[in-house]
Amino acid sequence: MGPFGREDVRILLLGERGVGKTSLILSLVSEEFPDVVPPRAEEITIPADVTPEQVPTHIVDFSESEQTEQDLAREVQRADVVCLVYAVDDNHSLQQITERWLPLLQSLRPRTKDDGGSQTGEVVSAVPIILVGNKSDLLEQGNMDSVLPIMNHYAEIETCVECSARTLRNISEMFYYAQKAVLHPTAPLYIAEDRE
Ligand code: GTP
Ligand code: MG
Repeated sequence: MGPFGREDVRILLLGERGVGKTSLILSLVSEEFPDVVPPRAEEITIPADVTPEQVPTHIVDFSESEQTEQDLAREVQRADVVCLVYAVDDNHSLQQITERWLPLLQSLRPRTKDDGGSQTGEVVSAVPIILVGNKSDLLEQGNMDSVLPIMNHYAEIETCVECSARTLRNISEMFYYAQKAVLHPTAPLYIAEDRE
């Protein structure tokens, strides 16, 4: 048992094709941008002693071209935290975060009264989410303006981060935020507030 009463942390990356999920994982592992990536990275486990929170951490990729809807459902059930990735240069990929991925997580992992949510009957996902804007190297400046309204609307989103698998900007931070969302969750605090 780790210091936070957990055996391990399981991080799942989801998002539209081509947003850079596999590149993010391989950049973290090799500390350089891979020019060529497979559709899906092998599951990797980061040993406790090299993670900031000292808990073994599994990082799981998802690829629609290699995996089925059932694989997706199973991975969502197993995840402790989901990184929802969009590409900052691709508006459609951000649109799909609200139109496809957040509703999918809400339906596969709905929060019940038992885990401190849904008193108001509103649907919230029980799995914490990190919203990840990848490819920040392609934009002159950040685009948090279009993301803040989403973050305010969905209590399950713990943190938003803009990063780049290419320049390695915010890569280790992104995985650290994901770990932190599991080990030191703040979502219940949001739920307690009136978010009208
Ligand atoms: P699927 O496996 O099809 O779902 O895609 P994916 O989300 O795993 O994306 P992948 O890592 O395969 O990257 C898609 C393309 O985006 C590749 O050509 C990458 O080189 C490129 N890419 C990934 N990350 C970055 C980044 O941070 N900056 C830039 N400029 N390109 C990137
Ligand atoms: Mg991939």
